Order: sequence, then structure tokens, then C-alpha cells
Amino acid sequence: MSGTFELDENGFRVLSGFLRERFGLHYPPQKRVELEKACRRAADGLDAAEFCRRVTSPSGSAALQRLINQLTVGETYFFRIQAHFDALKNVILPGIYKRRAAERRLRIWSAGCATGEEPYSVAMLILETLPDAGDWKIEFLATDINTDFLEAARAGVYREWSFRKVDDYWRGKYFEARGEGWQVGGEVRDIVGFVRANLLDERDNVLAAGPAPFDLILCRNVFIYFDDASIARVSALFRRYLAPGGWYVGGHVEPLVFTEGFDTVHFPGAFVYRKRTAEEVAAAPKRRRPRERPREPLYKRPRVSELEKMDRLVAAGEDARALEQLSKLSRAREDAEVCWRMGRILGNLGRYEEALEWCRRGVALDKTNAYVYYIAALIQDEMGQNEEAFENLRRSLYVEKDFVLGHFSMANYHRWRRDEGRAARSYRNVLKLLEGRDDGEEITGDGLTVGRLREIVNQIL
Ligand SMILES: C[S@@+](CC[C@H](N)C(=O)[O-])C[C@H]1O[C@@H](n2cnc3c(N)ncnc32)[C@H](O)[C@@H]1O
Repeated sequence: MSGTFELDENGFRVLSGFLRERFGLHYPPQKRVELEKACRRAADGLDAAEFCRRVTSPSGSAALQRLINQLTVGETYFFRIQAHFDALKNVILPGIYKRRAAERRLRIWSAGCATGEEPYSVAMLILETLPDAGDWKIEFLATDINTDFLEAARAGVYREWSFRKVDDYWRGKYFEARGEGWQVGGEVRDIVGFVRANLLDERDNVLAAGPAPFDLILCRNVFIYFDDASIARVSALFRRYLAPGGWYVGGHVEPLVFTEGFDTVHFPGAFVYRKRTAEEVAAAPKRRRPRERPREPLYKRPRVSELEKMDRLVAAGEDARALEQLSKLSRAREDAEVCWRMGRILGNLGRYEEALEWCRRGVALDKTNAYVYYIAALIQDEMGQNEEAFENLRRSLYVEKDFVLGHFSMANYHRWRRDEGRAARSYRNVLKLLEGRDDGEEITGDGLTVGRLREIVNQIL
């Protein structure tokens, strides 16, 4: 391995553009060091120029695959987001069985399946809910671009961590102890086929699509890493490959991608999309096109003085007044800075659903704003949605790795789970990030200072 690997300006520009265009992997200049580290690990002795040449060569290469395997994040576990699995079990799957009863065929796609926990969870659910599953033709495609993840998925051996949200029933019924883990049983493994496919590569996806449309597509926690253009491309693909009446299950805070031709169906704790059938489209009243209005830019730099005023009101406990003023401001202009503040105030007032809606809006406007995820996490925590809260905290740190409040909340989360080691590490991160800062410096704009936070963390440690 080369210790001197460094990307020059041009190398970085070419490589980050290539990764974004071809894979949706977004490496802006502030993430350059991260990209360089991954390149160094994947370079396997090649110098930077040769490595970049091979990675970007039109025919693809082993170097490119090694880099992709370094860059992709495969966080996943069985039955992640219980609300989705409740909806699948109670409504979505039974509806699909009914529609396909004559032909006894199901087609499902788990896109961005990582190490396989997601498709295997759905496969187990099918075995539970479709008594004569053996007589059905089930085509269950699971795709990812990370070949290491796919290899692990095919082996199907999982450690304790993958079962962190699963009750013992599933492990007892569908897994066998294997070495230090558990292997998912053959009857479940036989249902799912794992294939390498890049969601942004038309050639891979034609292969993935097969002969008939899908009854169900899951693509959860994949878009979070994509820019808007890539999301639009992949959304169009799913729209095309879904059967009329078919379902699309996306991640929790991922931007809405379908509007025309889809219904948003709300379930407790989740919403999913259903593609309308031709009859439903024909029967739907024609919506009048909204009158063209001059378009606002999507992101406007906040006028700090106005927002600061709201923060002061919040700090003084005057949430109702802050809400009134911020609501007015939000009518004049919408940006993520306004959205997370709306979320914060509504959260303070106990109006959680509205607060979360503002956070979602904030994410749709600016996926790189750490505060929208952070505020959503605080609200979900209040609502007892611990899993979702944790996901959002992770996202806040993903988009801003030095986000002090994110590290602090993450530390509290680990402490709550009695994971002292991780908690201590996160608290130390907070102290490190506060090093050299003035005690009086404000952190949140609503009263929390560097000195106070340092004091709190030192008391805990
Ligand atoms: C965080 S995991 C999500 C796993 C699972 N869907 C879940 O929600 O638990 C995201 C996965 O998306 C995959 N991915 C990222 N970009 C992709 C692309 N362009 N094509 C296919 N998969 C991609 C990554 O390799 C990773 O395994």
C-alpha cells in the first residue's frame, strides 16, 4: 500500500465528478480527505494517477470495485423500521397475494440491499403470511453495488448486532447457530437472489428488471446519499418497473419522489407509495395545472438577523410568539434554516407531527443541513421512536461530521442503551470539538454555551 497517495486538484475533481455521475456518490470538496482515505485503502499499491486512470476507465476495473466497496455504507439490520414491516404484513403483502392469486407469481426488488437483512426479513414475512408459498413462483431480486456486502448476504451468517431489533421468535424459527453467528435457513435463502447492480447504470438495471414488472420495490436508506439529479433518475426507473397497483417503500426521511400517478398511503408511523392502475388514473379527476409563478431559488442564505430574533424568543421561552413570527417568515421564503426552526418550536409546543413535517420539508430543500436531521431526531426521541431518532442522528453526523450537538445526542443515546464504551467515545468527541473555543460562545442560538456543554459532559465522564 502506498503511504504517499494524494489526489491533486484535477484528480479530485475528475474522480468526484465520476463517482457522482456514475454512482450517485456525492463527494463535495469538504469530504475530500474522506475520499482520499478510501482511495488509499483501495489503491493496493498503485499511485494516485494510475489508480484514478483505472477507476475511471470506461470498461470498469477491479480498482473501481475496491473503491466502491470502501465508499458505500451498509448499515442495516433485520426488520429495520418496524412500521414498514407492519404495513407489509397487514396490508401490502396480503393485497399483492390477492391480486396475483390466479398466476401465483410474485416479483419483489430490494434495491440497495447491503448485507441482506432487508430482503431476508421480507422473505421470512412471506413465509409467515403465505401458507402455500412453496406453490408460488417468487422472484425476489436483491441488488447492491458493494460486492463485499453481496458476498456476506449470500453466505447469510449474521452476528448479534443484526438482530438488535428482532424478537427471538424469528431467530428461533429461521436461523441456525453457525460459528460465532447465526445462518439464515435454506428455505429463506432460496427465495432471494443477490445481484450486483448500480442503480444509476441503465445496463445493470435492464438486467435487474427481468421480464415482468415488480409488485413491490424497497429502496430504503439509499437515496440519502444521492443528489437530486440521481434521485430523479432512479425514481423514474422505479416508476417504470413497478406494476400498476404495485408498492414502493422508501426510507423514512427520504424526499418524496413520486407525485403524478401514485398515491401516498399512510400507515401508523410510516407512509409508502402505491402506483395507480390504469383504471384509477382514468377515473381520477383531472388536476388543474397550477398557475405558473416566478420560481424562487431552492436555497436562500438565511438573513441571520431575522432568524436570530426568533432564536432569542425561543431562548426566552416565548415559543408562541416565535412561532407566529417564524410562520410569517416561512410564507415569504422557505429554506432549511427556517424549516428546522419551525420544527424546533412546534416540537417545544408538543405538536410533533407538524414538527416532523417541517423537518422533512427541510431535508427536501437541503439534504446537507445537519440541523434538520438533528431536530427530527429530538422530536422522534420524544415520541418514543428511538430507532428513527437514531437514524436521524447518524444522518446529521454523516452530513456534518464535526456536528457537536449530533455527537452529544449520540453519546446520550449510547448511554441510554447502556453502551458505556460508545457513549464515552462520543462524549470525548464533544470535548475535542469544543477544544480551544471560548466558554461564552453559543452553540444553539437558544442559550446553550460552550462552557455549559463542557461542564455537562465533564460531569458525565
Ligand atoms: C444504508 S444501506 C441500506 C440497506 C437497507 N436498504 C436498509 O435500509 O437497511 C445503503 C446501501 O445502498 C447501496 N448503494 C449506494 N449507492 C448505490 C448505487 N448507486 N446502486 C446500488 N446500490 C447502492 C450501498 O452499497 C449500501 O449497501
